[in-house]
Amino acid sequence: MRVLVTGGAGFIGSHVVDRLLADGHEVFVVDDLSSGSTDNLSAAFDSGRFHFHELDIRDPGLGALVVEWKPEVVCHLAAQISVRRSVADPIHDARVNVEGTACVLGAAREGGSRKVVFASSVAVYGHPPVIPVPGDAPTDPRSPYAASKLGAEAYLSSYRALYGLDFTTLVLANVYGPRQSAAGEAGVVAIFTDALVDGKPTVLYGDGTQTRDYVFVADIADAFVGACGSEGGGRRFNLGTGLQTTDRRLHSIIADAAGANDKPGFAPPRLGDLPAMAVDPVPAYEGLGWLPRTELGEGLRATVEWRRSCRR
Ligand SMILES: NC(=O)c1ccc[n+]([C@@H]2O[C@H](COP(=O)([O-])OP(=O)(O)OC[C@H]3O[C@@H](n4cnc5c(N)ncnc54)[C@H](O)[C@@H]3O)[C@@H](O)[C@H]2O)c1
Repeated sequence: MRVLVTGGAGFIGSHVVDRLLADGHEVFVVDDLSSGSTDNLSAAFDSGRFHFHELDIRDPGLGALVVEWKPEVVCHLAAQISVRRSVADPIHDARVNVEGTACVLGAAREGGSRKVVFASSVAVYGHPPVIPVPGDAPTDPRSPYAASKLGAEAYLSSYRALYGLDFTTLVLANVYGPRQSAAGEAGVVAIFTDALVDGKPTVLYGDGTQTRDYVFVADIADAFVGACGSEGGGRRFNLGTGLQTTDRRLHSIIADAAGANDKPGFAPPRLGDLPAMAVDPVPAYEGLGWLPRTELGEGLRATVEWRRSCRR
């Protein structure tokens, strides 16, 4: 299969690329390197079945490129990913996440693609009344980022209705693993890992009881690759473990893996922080045959090992 991965130089996108190449597919990446890096693609460049183009997804040249490449499937992960930046600059967020998605869909249509696999976020659920969030939970966007992800989802539906462009939406919980940047606010695992491996202080916001659903990046890459092959039918699936992990426990596991002191500092909770989150993975199992396979301790040890190898 020929697959285009937008945002393929990023944290999750580069794992999707590696997994597609390992399965023998031909892979094309468009990325403007605004937060991603070609360092994440060093193995891909050696594969002989990999093509990279540095380009903003909103660039008018995207259509011609996709017509030339003719990908059967487009995995669309390029995005403005920071909730806080979306609040500070909602126009930029909408331009990248909504306008950018419209550009990717137009190019996919021009290039004759069969399907789009889209990366959405659990942010679309706002403060969910039921945890783990069921597959059919109502959405409640409480940030421009959540609104732009939902807007992009609506564009996917409209292109399917108008042009028959198939899609699957994958709604991602908190993804962690090797290559995640500690610069992004989404990456609490990366932030703790960097600090604990380097022997630097760490801070928990609130009393440490806030929970998140941490899912390992290789498992997410499996879901993207699985969704490339299947018929999407315009369905959306939550991808997480269904398990809630407190900030305090997360810190302890990473400190243990890093052989560091498990003594975080505490700071007041941040405005707008969600107290708890986890999503029900059962519908993804029923619809995609996907299950998260990596136990949290195992995934966090692999992340610490990767961070150590970068320091050598
Ligand atoms: N990391 C998570 O926990 C998480 C959770 C939910 C959803 N997501 C979604 O998954 C996707 C990937 O996120 P990530 O964590 O790998 O982030 P990332 O920042 O590492 O990856 C995003 C990639 O998109 C590229 N990009 C950004 N704007 C672009 C543009 N205008 N044109 C071309 N390329 C552009 C960046 O350079 C980067 O390589 C995003 O859509 C994000 O919203 C991530």
